[in-house]
Amino acid sequence: MKEIKIGLIGWGTVGAGVTRILQKNSALISRRLGARLRLVRVADLNLKRDRGMKLAPGILTRDAARIIEDPEIDIVVELIGGLDPAEGMVISSLRGGKRVVTANKALLAERGKTLFREAGQVRRRIFFEASVGGGIPIIKIIREGLSANRISSILGIINGTTNYILTRMSEEGITLAAAVRGAKKAGYAEKNPALDLEGIDSAHKLALLSSLAFGGWADFSRIYREGINEITDEDIAYTAGLGYTIKLLAVAKQSPSGADLRVHPTLVPRRHLLSAVNGIFNAVYLEGDFSKSQIFQGEGAGQGPTASAVVADLMEAGREILSGNDSTPPFIATDRDLKLAPIGEVVCRHYLRIPVIDRPGVLARIASILGAGGISIDSVIQRQRYKRGLVPVILMTNQAREKALQTALDKISHLEVVRGTPVRIRVED
Ligand code: NDP
Ligand code: HSE
Repeated sequence: MKEIKIGLIGWGTVGAGVTRILQKNSALISRRLGARLRLVRVADLNLKRDRGMKLAPGILTRDAARIIEDPEIDIVVELIGGLDPAEGMVISSLRGGKRVVTANKALLAERGKTLFREAGQVRRRIFFEASVGGGIPIIKIIREGLSANRISSILGIINGTTNYILTRMSEEGITLAAAVRGAKKAGYAEKNPALDLEGIDSAHKLALLSSLAFGGWADFSRIYREGINEITDEDIAYTAGLGYTIKLLAVAKQSPSGADLRVHPTLVPRRHLLSAVNGIFNAVYLEGDFSKSQIFQGEGAGQGPTASAVVADLMEAGREILSGNDSTPPFIATDRDLKLAPIGEVVCRHYLRIPVIDRPGVLARIASILGAGGISIDSVIQRQRYKRGLVPVILMTNQAREKALQTALDKISHLEVVRGTPVRIRVED
């Protein structure tokens, strides 16, 4: 049976999952592929750490160059994460005639324009199924299953760590810090968890999904983004009472002023399927002109699901090698930039929580600022007092344009009766 030789760089959480699948499901993979995926070398900086499994003698090395420069190796798997030295490793591997498989969404979203161009020039593909949605084959779904459609919108819970944190905060009442510790221990969080918490990881993934779905390069640095650091137990409780769940949502919508791309905490009505996507699960909701709406759900981070996507890519790259096809274009086109819509033009409903002094006339002053900005109020709730005579005014607005809402909020926050920063969460109906 023909052998396809693989070199893996980065034997951490995902890398160890890949070696485990290649050992455990080796016969099944060979049967389905018609060739053997043989792991010939694994590079990692730490040779001592216990990964709960053994590799054959001579496979493990500290030196990634022994993979990149080995002419016998057909496919390089990059699983070290980060931008450098990962970028140089990918470029050298492509120039050496190798296919590359990676789960590194940060690298592809931030440096992908160069990398995909390089791949096109040397006629070698970069496979990146594991970079979005963990075990959900969402890249293949967009690239193949829905390829006959114009996709008009994507709504995604595409960061497992923040979804796990928000779920534990709302179901168990634990603190954000305690939930972050749980996500790190389980191997879900990025090496720098700020990437998860600040919505950067979701924005990386959204850039890749929207580039694929909308057929142009999405500039990651221009995606509007807010993370979950400011979400409090109080807002989780109030919004639950109003029939909503708070999710860190990645949104991509085609609009007349361009592609509306954003990542922010969002109130999702409890009747919406995305509201029931909890814990480490991810889900992506897509609307195509002929496919109509579809939703895909699965575990979005962690060793097994992510490694499953990496090995599926190894098999796809293997099929390409077996067919002798070297002329396939890169999956993402980099010759056209997506025009992005300004965040100020986004129209949606908003939840506002404004801490005020409990005094007659306060609500009227807030309502008058909103009214002057053309923002109508859907409902007002005034709950129990805080300490020292403060009270939270909770408002749901009707549809309002972002820039009008922001102007009104700035004015409201300067009222002398307002104490502390007003909280605003967008609503996705
Ligand atoms: P880990 O930190 O667990 O693993 C990375 C490994 O690479 C570590 O063992 C690290 O060693 C090693 N390494 C770092 N630099 C080098 C180098 N120059 N040469 C050789 N080895 C090196 O990360 P994960 O496995 O969690 O993530 C890997 C990639 O997969 C990242 O891009 C991540 O974003 C992505 N990903 C992760 C998911 C997850 O659930 N964990 C899910 C989807 C994608 P050391 O520890 O000594 O630095
Ligand atoms: N840190 C990422 C997450 C890993 O939690 O979703 C999967 O991409």
